[in-house]
Amino acid sequence: MKVYLDHNASTPLHPDVLAAMLPYLSERFGNPSSVHGWGREARQALEAARQAVARALGATDQASIVFTGSGTEADNLALRGVLEAQRERGRHLIVSAVEHHAVLHTAEHLARQGWEVTRLRVDSGGLLDPDDVRRAIRADTILVSLMHSNNETGVLFPIREAARVCRERGVLFHTDAIQSFGKLPVDVEALDVDLLSISGHKIRGPKGIGALYIRHGTKMLPLLTGGWQERSRRGGTENVAGAVGLARAAELMREGLEETGGRMAELRDRLESGLLVAIPEVRRNGHPTVRLPQTSSLAFPGTEAESLILALDLCGIGVSSGAACSSGSPEASHVLTAMGLPHDRVQGSVRFSLGRETTGEEIDCVLETLPPIVERMRRASGWRPGRERGEE
Ligand SMILES: Cc1ncc(COP(=O)(O)O)c(C=O)c1O
Repeated sequence: MKVYLDHNASTPLHPDVLAAMLPYLSERFGNPSSVHGWGREARQALEAARQAVARALGATDQASIVFTGSGTEADNLALRGVLEAQRERGRHLIVSAVEHHAVLHTAEHLARQGWEVTRLRVDSGGLLDPDDVRRAIRADTILVSLMHSNNETGVLFPIREAARVCRERGVLFHTDAIQSFGKLPVDVEALDVDLLSISGHKIRGPKGIGALYIRHGTKMLPLLTGGWQERSRRGGTENVAGAVGLARAAELMREGLEETGGRMAELRDRLESGLLVAIPEVRRNGHPTVRLPQTSSLAFPGTEAESLILALDLCGIGVSSGAACSSGSPEASHVLTAMGLPHDRVQGSVRFSLGRETTGEEIDCVLETLPPIVERMRRASGWRPGRERGEE
């Protein structure tokens, strides 16, 4: 049996999404900027996709959606595009310490270029206090960027409250909703955000497409110059098939959102309680309830996450140690480290992320396979219970 529990890294393309895309990878190949029939056909598909994505995000103005080449590019455009356009107004950016690298590395790059960056701390449950946002805002703050949910722990941030603080203080607010979109309701009006990023391949859409919602009137410079595409906010011939795929995936994800969320949460809880019972001293990372319904980050002290992942892979089970891009690298998770977790807990932490198709049988398969692997590794490393708590 193959068990894929790494849906926060990527998801399988939905067959209906592939079907919607195929014509735009074959006979409907026109360039949306061309004036002839082939071009108009592509333009029509692109604008219909834009409208569908706007609708899925609760945006009233379809012109507020810019298609990008990835979620990472959407985050980059939000940060760099806004700061570059508003450099006369100030030099200060606020992010959290647990953002995805798409935001954190971009903030570091901006810091090297002279911007001042404040990284907000989280507590041991991965939660962020919106009052910390209020306290961090300065007269020269241009933008606050906070993720809607964390890709490693699934912990949710108080986005509505943080956005309200920013609105009161006249500061722009961006949220990276790449993990939340398709798992929870995400509505730009209800959240009252200025900018919001999403990505195709996290929601059973294709890779190589993302989108940034930009509230009407937000001053923004493009990252890619060279054409007037996307209302001059992103040069380059548009990925029509990708946009059509993202739009179809967004529509499909909205169907049965609550019901599938509940089902995934039940399976996730079954996985967690099963492992907590079967394996001594397993720890859950992150707040137990303020989190996505299908993400579980668990620590198995006395093991190395990379070894666990490889051993599970040999048994046909796919999980990860957190952010996909950092898997395979020995670097400790910046998210778990920022939560102040002890080193051996960080080193032995594995992320399980379920999808809509995950079954009870698959969860049972993990419950059967994992405990003996952990036991073997702990025996080999000489681990003894109680060490983490200093009970020796
Ligand atoms: C929270 C978050 N932001 C950004 C990204 C990057 O998205 P993409 O893979 O589309 O570049 C990811 C992907 O893991 C993510 O989880």
